[in-house]
Amino acid sequence: MLIFKRSLSAALILFLLVACSSLKESKPSAHFAAIASAHPLATQAGMDILAQGGNAFDAAVAVAASLSVVEPYSAGLGGGGFWLLYEAKTNRYRFIDARETAPSRFHRDYYLTEQGQVDRDKAMNGPTASGIPGIPAALAFINSDLGTLPLAQVLAPAVAQAEQGVAVDEFYRLRMSFRKSTIERYPASARIFLEDNDIPQLGFVLKQSDLANTLKRLGEGGHAGFYQGTTAQLMLAAVNNAGGEWTQADLESYQVKEREPVRKVIGDKEIISAPPPSSGGIALLQMLEMLEQFPWQSMSKTEQTHLLAEVMRRAYRDRAEYLGDPDYVTVPTERLLSSAHNRAWAQSIRLEQATSSLSLHGSKNSTQGPHTTHFVVLDSQGNMVSTTMSINLPFGSAFVAEGTGVLLNDQMDDFSTKPGEPNAYGLVGNEANAIAAGKRPLSSMTPTIINSPTETALLGTPGGSRIISMVLLGVLEYWQGKPVEEWVARPRVHHQYLPDLIEYEPNALTEQEVKVLEAKGHRLKNTERPYGNMQAIFWQKQSNKVTAASDPRVGGVAQVSQ
Ligand code: DON
Repeated sequence: MLIFKRSLSAALILFLLVACSSLKESKPSAHFAAIASAHPLATQAGMDILAQGGNAFDAAVAVAASLSVVEPYSAGLGGGGFWLLYEAKTNRYRFIDARETAPSRFHRDYYLTEQGQVDRDKAMNGPTASGIPGIPAALAFINSDLGTLPLAQVLAPAVAQAEQGVAVDEFYRLRMSFRKSTIERYPASARIFLEDNDIPQLGFVLKQSDLANTLKRLGEGGHAGFYQGTTAQLMLAAVNNAGGEWTQADLESYQVKEREPVRKVIGDKEIISAPPPSSGGIALLQMLEMLEQFPWQSMSKTEQTHLLAEVMRRAYRDRAEYLGDPDYVTVPTERLLSSAHNRAWAQSIRLEQATSSLSLHGSKNSTQGPHTTHFVVLDSQGNMVSTTMSINLPFGSAFVAEGTGVLLNDQMDDFSTKPGEPNAYGLVGNEANAIAAGKRPLSSMTPTIINSPTETALLGTPGGSRIISMVLLGVLEYWQGKPVEEWVARPRVHHQYLPDLIEYEPNALTEQEVKVLEAKGHRLKNTERPYGNMQAIFWQKQSNKVTAASDPRVGGVAQVSQ
């Protein structure tokens, strides 16, 4: 319990100060509004919509649509995502699941060759890798259910950015360098995202007129403006001509699902996060409860890193074993979040020695790759949005549906294509995450809000399987009273059960610390480059002070306005 000592004494002070407050009560009176996103133009789009009188949900739709245009390698209309929302008026947390669904013709062995091998190309590249997109449905749903402005008005900044074009930056160029050879296979994609069949020069103005028109049809028609009519017809023709297998019914029947977020009170704070089909919220809460059993804050840095690796190993092991789409499999959420389960996990941790992942029962492994996006919004009424959106790998499947400008996801690779077979992030899974028609693939996206009577923190990040460990590290920085800039900047370490190794950013551990961890029995791997792109907002309610930060590793921008 020592880890949360600080928060407990804060709770006592708080009790004296705000005798009548309840944990779930959030005073809806932020003096400022704030947005942090992965691109300055997306943050600006949201700020513009707030200035036009929109609320946080209007701004969030504007940010999401803009990211589809200005960060096409990360997320967009062709992808999916999770929206964790707090509605001040009703004092309610809501979770909108806009994850992609497996098309109706997909089945358990869809990616297996006749010899029973996984066809990695089919699972990662081109329209065979794409699930039915969820983001357009999310934008329409959030606009009609929670927004105050017409959808077309909220999408207008993104339309303008697509029509006028945005300058290509170094982040675009780096991500394109990972995916250029696949983009080249699809002429409609190469025409939009390459410059004379090459990676565009810095400053090249990327215009996306088809995408602008698709956004306009969405703005005019809402859900039907994307999943029916011109856009749907163009997508069906393009996908099926290029070897995909979508039906009109797959598109028309796509709906977001509203689910109950997972929640846990620790000390004076409540953590609210993503439920299945994300594995993120459950794993985050499990790791926090395991850590709570140790005097974490008084340990040396290598002892802390060892302990973090051990709690990550155990939570990711449960992920591989039990998690999947709750509409298709029974996820033992209650048991996984029970104190009995996580205290037993904590007791199995030896502080002097690494546990072998295989001794926890398991499968196999592999490596990592980027991209996805996270953003956070807070408005003056206290409404909040924490959203992670993805098309999975950089530039998704690399396939643009001709005539729509929509770059499709390759999220089907997040399914367990074969029990024990690693996906692009080295994650393994089993039957719980096997493919089935209409099912949503298991995700690591972890949009999170932490609330107490006196303050609220919003955070999240992209980063594939490393998302969950990054959010844990961000939460721990917050918990130790560090400023929001440090939550997003903290050097990162990661363990995901399999492969059985600690991955660490180049500046996260010294050579000496690596040696100490090796002596405990860990294998370690320097990731060679930084990873993640965390966005965060911190609202201190009593002083009405709002701070926000965007990960210094990438080019995002946080704005706070009066
Ligand atoms: O849903 C998931 O867990 C992954 N598709 C997210 C991919 C991702 O974060 C890539 N980013 N760097």
